[in-house]
Amino acid sequence: MDAILELQGVSMSFGGLKAVDNLSFTINENEIVSIIGPNGSGKTTTFNVISGLYEPDSGEILLKGESVAGLRPDAVHDKGISRTFQSLRLFSNMSVLDNVLVGMHSVTDSGVLASMLRLPKVRREEQAMRERAQEILEMFPGRFSGPRQQQPAFSLSYANRRRLEIARALASDPTLLMLDEPVAGMNPMESHEVMEQIKILRDKGYTIVMIEHDMHVVEGVSDRVIAMDHGVKIAEGTYHEVANDPQVVEAYLGKRAAEATA
Ligand SMILES: Nc1ncnc2c1ncn2[C@@H]1O[C@H](COP(=O)(O)OP(=O)(O)OP(=O)(O)O)[C@@H](O)[C@H]1O
Ligand SMILES: [Mg+2]
Repeated sequence: MDAILELQGVSMSFGGLKAVDNLSFTINENEIVSIIGPNGSGKTTTFNVISGLYEPDSGEILLKGESVAGLRPDAVHDKGISRTFQSLRLFSNMSVLDNVLVGMHSVTDSGVLASMLRLPKVRREEQAMRERAQEILEMFPGRFSGPRQQQPAFSLSYANRRRLEIARALASDPTLLMLDEPVAGMNPMESHEVMEQIKILRDKGYTIVMIEHDMHVVEGVSDRVIAMDHGVKIAEGTYHEVANDPQVVEAYLGKRAAEATA
């Protein structure tokens, strides 16, 4: 098993608050790892540090052995880490297809002048990008077929907008895909379907780390689970190991309740 992402002793504070505290973990190639933890436990901040929105105060972040700590978000993206956000960040007025195109790397090899002149090489590159975007949309069977690709993002159902965010994150062919609460706000049927979708992506070879509160989804999809509380990793293992870990139960229920259930 090859390590795709390695965090070594990563810390990040907001003023006096240690949002991420000496955090270490590894994500291996082609696995789905879920990060769980109560509200405010540092999950999203961990994603923000990995994806370059924040610089860690200390520690190392390695993507396939190469440090990405402290790089700017676009540089981290170029290195192969792509993510979605807890709240939707689509371009509502742009078409479904264009939203995926936006997710691709700062694209053509041909340069600005060639683009302005619309040389044949540029047109070929644009065509190839469109085809790739369509391929990515086809990974979501029945959701973005045919004319739907030309509709503005705002016309989609909420669940489809969340799916489109995942599609956009896939557009850069990432080495690591990070999803922040991919099923938030979905009904059980929609959640189940997105869960199956995430498994399909893993089967296609993607490596995925996701933050999720829905324990049914976490159980259904995760090869491994990491639990955080107050910025610290408190447990790691299979879903059942982590869900039954006394520290995890305590983090969710409080100490008294945890003792009562013991
Ligand atoms: N930009 C910020 N400025 C100040 N404090 C912040 C900032 N972002 C997060 N925090 C604080 O850092 C801590 C961790 O927040 P974070 O958003 O990482 O939690 P989380 O585990 O993702 O929670 P949730 O499940 O509610 O999304 C919280 O106490 C939060 O209030
Ligand atoms: Mg969060």
